[in-house]
Amino acid sequence: MPVTQPTVHVTNHLDHDYLRQALEHDVRTGLTASPKWLPSKWFYDAAGSDLFSQITRLPEYYPTRRELAILRERAGDIARRSGADTLVELGSGTSEKTVLLLDALAASSLRAYMPVDVDAVTLGDAARRLAARYPGVTVQGVCADFERHLALLPRTGRRMVAFLGGTIGNLGPAAREVFLKELRDTLRAGDSLLLGADLVKDTGRLVAAYDDAAGVTAAFNRNVLHVINRELGADFEPDAFAHVALYDAPNDWIEMRLRATRPMLVQVRDLALPVRFAAGEEMRTEISAKFRPAGLRAELVAAGFTVDRLYTDPDGDFSLTLAKV
Ligand code: SAH
Ligand code: TRP
Repeated sequence: MPVTQPTVHVTNHLDHDYLRQALEHDVRTGLTASPKWLPSKWFYDAAGSDLFSQITRLPEYYPTRRELAILRERAGDIARRSGADTLVELGSGTSEKTVLLLDALAASSLRAYMPVDVDAVTLGDAARRLAARYPGVTVQGVCADFERHLALLPRTGRRMVAFLGGTIGNLGPAAREVFLKELRDTLRAGDSLLLGADLVKDTGRLVAAYDDAAGVTAAFNRNVLHVINRELGADFEPDAFAHVALYDAPNDWIEMRLRATRPMLVQVRDLALPVRFAAGEEMRTEISAKFRPAGLRAELVAAGFTVDRLYTDPDGDFSLTLAKV
């Protein structure tokens, strides 16, 4: 008998028309605003996801290693406390760290894994890899936007929703409040949330994590311009934009920007939109909020969760919170 690849089901809530409309809307809104900005989910096409994978291995980018360290230590405890038989993961990407959770859950009652991501390519690869690794487990990928499609996610089983990598920090405070409440509303008694969040720390280390010496984060930041060129027929010269990462201490967030290194007139052909940049003009592409444990607890409680455990690594760099409804 030939060895057959496991079949995985990928449900797609992001058909081409939807993506196109959302991108057109976001680009028009952001590039006609003052100051200009671009929303970060458009970093993640296949090339962007690959650059993000490289970021997770950079010496300066501590969050992935710290979160892994917490999972190595606590995955068993988390699995027991959650009692989950279904793991739903938001912004799952390559699902690399997830294996630790899945191993711990597989030791008891794991029945299904549902990774959710906007990048269909990376999602499909991860789903196939994990379906092969856990033969008795139903793996169902869901290509969706976690800010818009939470209500459409599968509702079967006793679920734990994992949201790792500090991606919660890529939402601003108002968007976070809405997101957490909506997530809370999709859960039932007995379900839980496992939330990875980066913690406030020395500014130098924070900034270095988003401005690495090898320039991988700079390439990742500029990737959003390549996406807009390709999808909307724009003529951005990505190399004419400098990568900027700064820490906004009053707001406790890292801000990523692209700075025009000279005056430019960019045409976004499919939107018939000319966009003028002054020399030195900066547009915001991303925030990455950093948390304090007390603030994190307060946000979860305000959304209707009960905090069961808040774990950190020994250095107190990163947090994983297990919350229940
Ligand atoms: N969880 C992984 C990846 C984090 S990077 C880790 O911890 O390493 C953020 C991931 O979220 C990317 O895979 C990106 O494609 C996905 N993502 C970003 N915005 C999203 C959105 N609005 N809806 C769904 N997925 C999103
Ligand atoms: N969730 C990641 C974080 O906030 C995403 C990320 C890492 C990122 N490095 C980046 C986003 C650089 C934009 C630019 O840490």
